[in-house]
Amino acid sequence: MIEKKEFGKTGFSVSRIGMGTYYDPSWIVLDKALHVRPNEERRVNAIKTGLELGLNLIDTAEIYGTERLVAKAIKGYDRNDIFIATKVWPTHFSFEKIISSCDHSLATLETSYIDLYQLHFPSNKYSITETMHAMEKLVDDGKIRHIGISNFSLEQTKEAIAALRKYEIISTQMDFSLQKRNIENDLVPFCMENNIAILPYYPLGHGDLTKASAYPSEAYNEIIANHGKISPSQIALNWFLTKFDFVFPIPRASNPQHVIENANSMGWRLSQKEIDLLENSFK
Ligand SMILES: NC(=O)c1ccc[n+]([C@@H]2O[C@H](COP(=O)([O-])OP(=O)(O)OC[C@H]3O[C@@H](n4cnc5c(N)ncnc54)[C@H](OP(=O)(O)O)[C@@H]3O)[C@@H](O)[C@H]2O)c1
Repeated sequence: MIEKKEFGKTGFSVSRIGMGTYYDPSWIVLDKALHVRPNEERRVNAIKTGLELGLNLIDTAEIYGTERLVAKAIKGYDRNDIFIATKVWPTHFSFEKIISSCDHSLATLETSYIDLYQLHFPSNKYSITETMHAMEKLVDDGKIRHIGISNFSLEQTKEAIAALRKYEIISTQMDFSLQKRNIENDLVPFCMENNIAILPYYPLGHGDLTKASAYPSEAYNEIIANHGKISPSQIALNWFLTKFDFVFPIPRASNPQHVIENANSMGWRLSQKEIDLLENSFK
């Protein structure tokens, strides 16, 4: 069962599990230097598989070299039903470069608007005021619908919020999973209070949490005994859904079978006892 929820304050309902499209550094280099894109067809099919199932949140970035794959995957689907999040790289944070990066992403994505435009990392070169001025112009011009950030600490998040004059920060994207929970001490409560959506990246620990051996047997056996055939990845993803209603994990979508499996992490909940067992073992 696909669960959907309003993404932050957007009024747009997205699947609680999204689809990430970062592969690895070698993929980026091969794409950039040689225009070689390994397993492109399978990866496009993975995104299509997710769309078919009802996963309508897709994350990409100008640096990933995967915006063109997203463009291929969404062809034939109603653009209004899909929420596309992409990111601009910090070397492009001047007013002019943000605008041209966005134009480039729009052309590569073959779309007239981006649902969520995210600052990929904080910059220590450009002032956040200049950067946010450009982001607000993009909203005014109808090129992007919402502004997001990624890899910003709580302090940097507050600075980003203060730099905006007309619009709000809708979401933040952070390295967050059962095995990396440090943001629960500061950013998570702040986002909950301010209705800022969180997109956890590496929600499967970049692959670590897809193996049963990552979980202590007591927690794993208890969950299997209670829920039947649940995979390790489904446990890692359901942990977010059970704990938070404003968090939308974006596991990588590059293998159709994995996308189907990850979609099935929705529609059920871990018990409090299971959550405790899991969290105690990942302390
Ligand atoms: N904002 C940022 O700075 C930032 C940084 C990194 C990533 N991201 C975003 O976050 C997304 C997720 O990160 P990630 O892809 O690196 O890490 P991830 O989703 O935590 O883990 C990906 C790994 O898990 C495997 N996997 C996925 N589903 C599986 C399943 N059901 N069973 C077994 N293995 C499974 C993948 O293999 P297969 O490929 O074979 O499915 C891949 O090896 C990225 O795609 C990107 O959109 C953002």
